[in-house]
Amino acid sequence: MARKFFVGGNWKCNGTAEEVKKIVNTLNEAQVPSQDVVEVVVSPPYVFLPLVKSTLRSDFFVAAQNCWVKKGGAFTGEVSAEMLVNLDIPWVILGHSERRAILNESNEFVGDKVAYALAQGLKVIACVGETLEEREAGSTMDVVAAQTKAIADRVSNWSNVVIAYEPVWAIGTGKVASPAQAQEVHDELRKWLAKNVSADVAATTRIIYGGSVNGGNCKELGGQADVDGFLVGGASLKPEFIDIIKAAE
Ligand code: G3H
Repeated sequence: MARKFFVGGNWKCNGTAEEVKKIVNTLNEAQVPSQDVVEVVVSPPYVFLPLVKSTLRSDFFVAAQNCWVKKGGAFTGEVSAEMLVNLDIPWVILGHSERRAILNESNEFVGDKVAYALAQGLKVIACVGETLEEREAGSTMDVVAAQTKAIADRVSNWSNVVIAYEPVWAIGTGKVASPAQAQEVHDELRKWLAKNVSADVAATTRIIYGGSVNGGNCKELGGQADVDGFLVGGASLKPEFIDIIKAAE
């Protein structure tokens, strides 16, 4: 089965209501390839989810940037998977490196979150990726495999999972991975899935790349055999996000 190209826009902790409306207008007016060719998902901060959900074109989808690890309750400041389902938000990003690093989210905690969110019916963009130190120490694949294993240990159905490979050194730095660097890790990750999960999961799970993707570098990156799309940060706040969606063609 062919893997449909996937373009996610992670708006991170950015935007005012006015700016969000402007971004949504730009997206709504854009001419992009059809849903048969590309799946587009944008991820505003929690507080803007209802606004974006209610104003965004119907062929684009919405993701939260995180959710709690289990059923809601006395967890001040958290948002549960059940709440996202209640608001009809189909996707959630989990395990972003900013949360792993700044909020100390461990591989196991992220794995628990992925399993819980999937069990509630959400689709998950699960992020993995190595730091510069880890890459320079030659441990990129060990790190990515350990992060993926913590998910694989807890998840049996991968049909609602997209893996985002996001090398930490490429995020927000302007230092994009070369197409060959991205392809190498995506290929290794797919082989890891084939060996440790199943050949079917390896063949069908989308592995998208994130880290300084922009309108200029997306076409070559997206042309790599195992790069099934992107998770875009900074450029997803700008009109060039449309060019990145068009890289699916
Ligand atoms: O989730 C998106 C990634 O962190 C990439 O961010 O495109 O600003 O480098 P960036």
